[in-house]
Amino acid sequence: MTKRSRPKVTINPIFRGCGIFLESPADGAAGPSSAAGAMGAKQSPAGGAGNSAFFCARVFPMQRLFKCGTWVNHACRLFVLINCVPLSLLAFDRNPGQKFFDAAGCRSCHRIGNLGGNAGPDLTLVGIRRSKEWLHVWLKNPKAWKKNTLMPNFRLAPKTQEAIVNYLSTLQGQDYPPGTAPWHQGNIASIERGQILYNKAGCVACHGPQGKGGHPNNNVPGNAIPALTKLITTYTPDELKLKIMRGAPPPGKQNPDEISPLVFMPSWGNALTNQDLDDLTNYLFAKVAETTNESW
Ligand code: HEC
Ligand code: HEC
Repeated sequence: MTKRSRPKVTINPIFRGCGIFLESPADGAAGPSSAAGAMGAKQSPAGGAGNSAFFCARVFPMQRLFKCGTWVNHACRLFVLINCVPLSLLAFDRNPGQKFFDAAGCRSCHRIGNLGGNAGPDLTLVGIRRSKEWLHVWLKNPKAWKKNTLMPNFRLAPKTQEAIVNYLSTLQGQDYPPGTAPWHQGNIASIERGQILYNKAGCVACHGPQGKGGHPNNNVPGNAIPALTKLITTYTPDELKLKIMRGAPPPGKQNPDEISPLVFMPSWGNALTNQDLDDLTNYLFAKVAETTNESW
């Protein structure tokens, strides 16, 4: 679990806005929390904004060492005007949902981009696989949706929840700059890449570990999302690839008097490359279907 630690500096209250940027991870890992990352631009490890904000916070307590009106003091003020004021404005622009996400400690269990824990699913692509409607139901009370989940109920204030849901809906893979997704690392075989993809892109969040299924859905037969262990008997590789690419419309209601199922198979065609889809198909046929053979 990667934990973010703040450098220990006292921040002059006037320049608290700058302090928001003191978030470069201590271990030197690239942090999507840099101002650049938050603005949707390419991530830079410990972004430049973070560095100058750090400088501001170091320098300003030192002002007290100099008499008011000395040139050092003026130089310091000028430095703040030039650097910290624009930085503070950027800080106000930062997605409020992202701030709540970090403040509530969601990141300790969930990874977005290169930063976060892994006790819960990677959320880098959660905006593709989950609707806002479902996210609200889930965040309101995770155990009401899935009895045995490890995710605590945060009892979020409605406005906080709204902001977090809006933020999560924007997460469509942009926190993996091109070539940095975990399934594109190293020189590994297609099946292995498919396995990493299955877990990190979040197929696992609905179809369960190794495609064994069991995750809940409402108002569908068995109240569960289907397992993927019998695909080999019903799909050719090309059909399977097409299914993943296109997804499926929301399943029909089992009971016409109840609300429609809130979970449906997303279409992955825009989020994944042709190679990614081949890797997933290879994985599903080779590994996931294997478990079916074992049980025969
Ligand atoms: C103690 C660890 C933990 C914390 C803290 C936590 N979660 Fe979760 N979360 C989980 C687990 C585990 C799951 C997987 C649900 C399951 O299948 O049991 C999950 C699932 C989710 C999902 C659905 C994931 C998907 O892949 O589709 C979302 C969205 C989510 N959490 C958001 C949040 C938010 C927002 C916060 C902070 C308010 C948060 N989580 C805090 C453990 C955690
Ligand atoms: C948000 C939940 C969700 C996610 C995430 C998800 N699926 Fe699905 N998937 C479903 C649901 C629901 C169905 C049933 C759809 C239907 O009515 O056919 C389904 C059906 C399927 C099927 C057809 C199964 C069958 O028996 O015909 C395949 C294959 C599949 N998903 C693969 C994947 C892969 C691969 C991923 C990851 C890239 C993925 N799914 C991610 C919810 C999800």
